[in-house]
Amino acid sequence: MTRIGFAYNQKPDSTPASPSATDAVDADDEPPGTRRDQRSRPSSAEHSNPFTATGGGTGVVAPPAPAPHPAAAGVSDVYAEWDAPETIDAVARALSALGEVVRLEADADFPARLRDARPDIVFNIAEGLHGPNREAHVPAICEYYGIPYSGSDPLTLSLCLHKGHTKRMLAAHGIPTAAFTLVESEADLERLAADPRTVYPRFVKPVQEGSSKGITERNLVRDAHELRQRTRELLRDYAQPVLVEDYLPGAEFTCGVLGNGPAARVLPIVGMRFDTLPAGAAPIYGYEAKWIWDRPDRPLDIFECPARIPAPLRTAIEEVVLAAYHALGCRDWSRIDVRLDAHGTPHVIEINPLPGILPDPADNSCLPKAARAAGLSYDELIQACLLHAAERQGVALERGSVP
Ligand SMILES: Nc1ncnc2c1ncn2[C@@H]1O[C@H](COP(=O)(O)OP(=O)(O)O)[C@@H](O)[C@H]1O
Ligand SMILES: [Mg+2]
Repeated sequence: MTRIGFAYNQKPDSTPASPSATDAVDADDEPPGTRRDQRSRPSSAEHSNPFTATGGGTGVVAPPAPAPHPAAAGVSDVYAEWDAPETIDAVARALSALGEVVRLEADADFPARLRDARPDIVFNIAEGLHGPNREAHVPAICEYYGIPYSGSDPLTLSLCLHKGHTKRMLAAHGIPTAAFTLVESEADLERLAADPRTVYPRFVKPVQEGSSKGITERNLVRDAHELRQRTRELLRDYAQPVLVEDYLPGAEFTCGVLGNGPAARVLPIVGMRFDTLPAGAAPIYGYEAKWIWDRPDRPLDIFECPARIPAPLRTAIEEVVLAAYHALGCRDWSRIDVRLDAHGTPHVIEINPLPGILPDPADNSCLPKAARAAGLSYDELIQACLLHAAERQGVALERGSVP
């Protein structure tokens, strides 16, 4: 029987937490829906060592704790990108139709357990432990041992986690993305704010975060004063460069992609209905929309899938999404955010090669939602990703073909 290693990072089972304006958020910018994931958010006391706090029961000897984000002391978002037990169980169930599933929690012991288990292929959803290349670690370790794995390779995962590098790649391929400057210091900021050629409004965001960390309505800056104020805060709070972009005023979409090469296909497009935001709110799918205005008791009905848009626009979005997918070297699956500029031209905002895959439809997870609209169940979505990966690498699975 085919042995499928399953690599993941599980959120520590810990105290519930309530989101606050400085606290952040969920995996791969997924909306909270019922917020089941939040249940396991750690308290700040547990913040410093994921190796000992995972609750995975592995009894591992912890290597040095990853340093807490210097500016994040007291902000308990260190596990924000990891998956909840419900997601991990649902994925394992789906994979079990294609082989024997060997769970390989991506903790300190992962390399040794992977080497000993030597599965035929690894299904990877591990967001990684620490550092700007954290998403690349599991794939890199698989490559080191010569074990096939699903999804994008280390280079693509690291490039896509850095929105500036992503945009440079997009621009080099002639794919529309908002013009940007990278502000790395107070001096950079002052030069930009004092420059009379700087146009407003602009949109600012930390260059290397996901999950709407550091993205609120205030990131839409309308003048030099707001630019200085918000960018200074982001430099301080996230200790990384800040992207200062052209603001894209048009409609927003997010698109799931499945497959490889010429056969890669865009799933039904998810449209954002900003008219569901509170009156006067900026049309941004940021922190407030995900974490404050969308409550379990009063869900924000912001997604429309398939988006009701004219066919030419749908085609234009699909083209730009597939071009971005290929330009960044994405494999098997991804989710790509797109927004229209003032002329209605689709621009790529960012690429998520490790897309959020919350199993409960109430959680409003966009890739499973798009898959459902394409007639694929949650299990079929997970299986499709693995089947694409297996096909690409010549690995035989229990069941042969992509749904
Ligand atoms: N250049 C931009 N113009 C307009 N809105 C933007 C721009 N960049 C980001 N946004 C808004 O901010 C949201 C979050 O930005 P994104 O880069 O996707 O970060 P995250 O990784 O948190 O999803 C987007 O979904 C969009 O609503
Ligand atoms: Mg996004």
